[in-house]
Amino acid sequence: MFLSRVVKRAVLLTTLASLGLVACSQDSGAPTDTNTVSSDTTDYNLTLDTAEFMAHVLEPIADVLWKSAGWILDENEGYYELYPTDDEGWANVDNHGAMIVEAGNLMLLPGRVLEGPWSTYAQATSTVGISIMKAAVEQNKEDLFQAGAQLYSVCTACHQAYNPDILSRFQPRSLTE
Ligand code: HEC
Repeated sequence: MFLSRVVKRAVLLTTLASLGLVACSQDSGAPTDTNTVSSDTTDYNLTLDTAEFMAHVLEPIADVLWKSAGWILDENEGYYELYPTDDEGWANVDNHGAMIVEAGNLMLLPGRVLEGPWSTYAQATSTVGISIMKAAVEQNKEDLFQAGAQLYSVCTACHQAYNPDILSRFQPRSLTE
């Protein structure tokens, strides 16, 4: 994992160098210590704290997905399916899968990462997002259901580790009924 990141970074630097961009930024007197560039939290807008990020970013994305997978038992209508019924619906799931991938990355911004298993759960969030995108492209209901359940497991595991109180505060309807 770490090694591959180092390799990718080396490739990126080589590419930048070949484009003359590295030399260019040195000429203009920009900082040349590339190791510190991306670890500076002042590069990011971290106005939203973790609770706000959860409530305004991650949960709304996840809700769309959970409302797109499974079955609901409705008093009036009986059981009905939540899965997308047309290409547009599947594209919406694909988009929200991509948002989950990136939301995983957002949890890894410098200044957001906590001690402990945080990064593991954040990375798992992105991995599940990829599974959601795959299921959407293949329009595979079973895989989408599984990925939705995995997403719920990742949320729950991280909450259990950091804040067990909030476990009871959200329950996706499609997984509990
Ligand atoms: C990497 C760890 C982590 C992951 C993954 C995670 N959460 Fe959280 N979540 C937290 C922490 C920590 C808090 C408590 C924040 C606080 O109260 O300061 C929280 C709080 C929340 C809250 C309560 C926000 C509030 O208004 O107080 C909701 C809702 C929530 N998370 C939803 C989700 C959902 C949905 C997922 C999965 C799609 C998820 N979280 C994944 C760490 C995580």
